[in-house]
Amino acid sequence: MAPASSRSDGGVGRDLIVLWDVHRVYRTGNVPVPAVRGVSLDIAAGEFVTIMGPSGSGKSTLLNVIGCLDRPTGGRYTLAGNDVQGMGDRELARIRNRLFGFVFQTFNLLPRISAAQNVELPLIYRGLGALERHRRVKSALRDVGLEPRGNHRPPQLSGGEQQRVAIARALVGEPRVLLADEPTGNLDSVTGEEIMAIFRTLNGEQGLTIIQVSHSLSAAHHGKRIVHFRDGMVTGQEVFSPSAPVLSGAGR
Ligand SMILES: Nc1ncnc2c1ncn2[C@@H]1O[C@H](COP(=O)(O)OP(=O)(O)O)[C@@H](O)[C@H]1O
Ligand SMILES: [Mg+2]
Repeated sequence: MAPASSRSDGGVGRDLIVLWDVHRVYRTGNVPVPAVRGVSLDIAAGEFVTIMGPSGSGKSTLLNVIGCLDRPTGGRYTLAGNDVQGMGDRELARIRNRLFGFVFQTFNLLPRISAAQNVELPLIYRGLGALERHRRVKSALRDVGLEPRGNHRPPQLSGGEQQRVAIARALVGEPRVLLADEPTGNLDSVTGEEIMAIFRTLNGEQGLTIIQVSHSLSAAHHGKRIVHFRDGMVTGQEVFSPSAPVLSGAGR
């Protein structure tokens, strides 16, 4: 079966992410757990996709496979034209660091250093010079509207502000794809909408590809496509055309 696409013209060469009948079985316990069970999906550069489905349906597993934090145990995954299975661990880590930025439900910030220092940290690991680090941190904090708060430490910030710091930390590596696992899951609906407004701007104005997992239909409606997921499989998709009215407030 050809991967489900938002486009009718879908040539594989133009697609950033192409999954062909991808499986991920966990074999940690006595009984194997098939978390992803035959997913065929393609995502082009510039898309804003939301994966929705019940708890335990394999959404995080799928996102981790897409982000190369985990490997498929079956099927085929090509990322920017590269076959993921054929890559060694170092090459996979290199492509992951170059292509992806990650945001999680829990913000995972270091509490004792400032917001700006949290954002800078991945660049220090990467060995970038101080001038370039400073430029990128400033630009990432500006993208999330937090430039004036850079000197605050995470405990001094609200949940929404902490998530914005985490988004800036993901952006600072200048990724092509932002992967977000329930980014508004710990936030109230108004703050969640603020986060989605940032995603929308990053996607619309900077062309950043965004793939998020969300339980919120109103969050999903900020994107361009919803992939419905259940029992490790894609069960349906909705594509929003640019002219289609956005159902604001739905699903809160
Ligand atoms: N590291 C792991 N080892 C074993 N089983 C796991 C692991 N991670 C997730 N699972 C199992 O895989 C299934 C899908 O989990 P997950 O991808 O986290 O779903 P979701 O994000 O949709 O809640 C669940 O049954 C879960 O218990
Ligand atoms: Mg999950």
